[in-house]
Amino acid sequence: MDRVLIRGGRILDPSQGRDEEADLLIEDGKVAAVGAGLSAADAEVIDASGKWVAPAFVDLHAHFRAPGQEYKEDLASGGRSAVAGGFSAVCCMANTDPVNDDPSVTQYILDRAEKESPARVFPVAAATRGLQGEVMTEMAALKEAGAVAFSDDGAAIMDSSVMRRVLEYSKLVDAPVVVHAEDRSLRADGVMNEGVMSTRLGLPGNPVEAEELHVARDVRLARLTGARLHVGHVSAGGSVDLIREAKEEGLSVTAEVTPHHLSLTDEATSGYDTNTKMSPPLRTRKDVETLRKALVEGVIDCIATDHAPHAEYEKAVEFAAAPNGILGLETAFSIVSDLVRTGEMTPLQLMERMSTAPARIFGLDAGSLKEGKSADVVILDPEATWTYEPAEGFSKSRNSPWSGQNLTGVVEATFVKGRLVYQAGRGVVIQ
Ligand code: DOR
Ligand code: ZN
Repeated sequence: MDRVLIRGGRILDPSQGRDEEADLLIEDGKVAAVGAGLSAADAEVIDASGKWVAPAFVDLHAHFRAPGQEYKEDLASGGRSAVAGGFSAVCCMANTDPVNDDPSVTQYILDRAEKESPARVFPVAAATRGLQGEVMTEMAALKEAGAVAFSDDGAAIMDSSVMRRVLEYSKLVDAPVVVHAEDRSLRADGVMNEGVMSTRLGLPGNPVEAEELHVARDVRLARLTGARLHVGHVSAGGSVDLIREAKEEGLSVTAEVTPHHLSLTDEATSGYDTNTKMSPPLRTRKDVETLRKALVEGVIDCIATDHAPHAEYEKAVEFAAAPNGILGLETAFSIVSDLVRTGEMTPLQLMERMSTAPARIFGLDAGSLKEGKSADVVILDPEATWTYEPAEGFSKSRNSPWSGQNLTGVVEATFVKGRLVYQAGRGVVIQ
């Protein structure tokens, strides 16, 4: 299929501020034209009337578990999960086994992804060896091997002078540092947000201040070094003020928020469901409201899933003992499109937060429907409903708080490099 004509959809291209009904022609893997009344003799035609046609989503934060923990997810299952969620590009965190702190691991991930994943995969390399927060990785060599950013995600860097050096060196290689902002000494053994709910449930709490302290520290270190700081999975309302101030000052600071932190609160943990356990934890209604507002205003730049698969038996333990994290890729659009249904955001703004903005932050050539760009395209039905059953999805894991729920907003089709890799009802197509 060399030519595809996506006809009559609502074109939403944030990279050009475009929101209009039009056709989109894909030719030889690229966007050939966007406009009204296009025709192409031998093209396969897809009717998109009533649907949104946008740049496919870009996820700056996911855990694909390869190498080492392929029983949770591998590059094939993760990649399929991604395209089923409308994502054409996924940045994979470094907390694999072995850790992605060496160019050979980066290369391994890229090689496997090339063979197995229908989505593009961009490795994020570790900032410190073994995620130990002590010895810096060889950033230049890792970047050379294909790393697009550096992060010790999952394990905050406690030593401020190490963090300072990480930022200094990241500047030399011109790559962003994604920070897992959490003062581990203040978090202590906290397993959920510290507050009324943790008290009621008798679970050790993790206060918002643990996040805010590190955001404050790292913003100041970004000022000191001039580096590109990207704050991962913001969960606390108080972090938003710090990020806003940093931006007002002109620092190179960006931030992301997950679908779950935009939609769920610590009340979801009332039944001790381990599929509501993640790091950072779900916070309060007030935090959720602040995060939503910050995303609308652009203080938080983008949405990232923190897709974190864990095997069923690993989550089937008491709350405090369960690993952190939930699936995110296949439900992301349904969950965050609520921001459009409530009128908080326009469709164009939402698409920007899911494609153009994340691509810009990591400097990826994605998130645009300009003519000549790679045809990474998603077709969405914002009003259709579906029931999410992880067992029927594409991830190897099932740890989702939305299991069995009716959700609104369906990914109809995903194209990567002009190839139809996912179509609703047909599963992952990959031609
Ligand atoms: O919930 C999380 N899960 N947060 C992290 O920072 C790490 C991740 C994981 O690797 O499972
Ligand atoms: Zn993560």
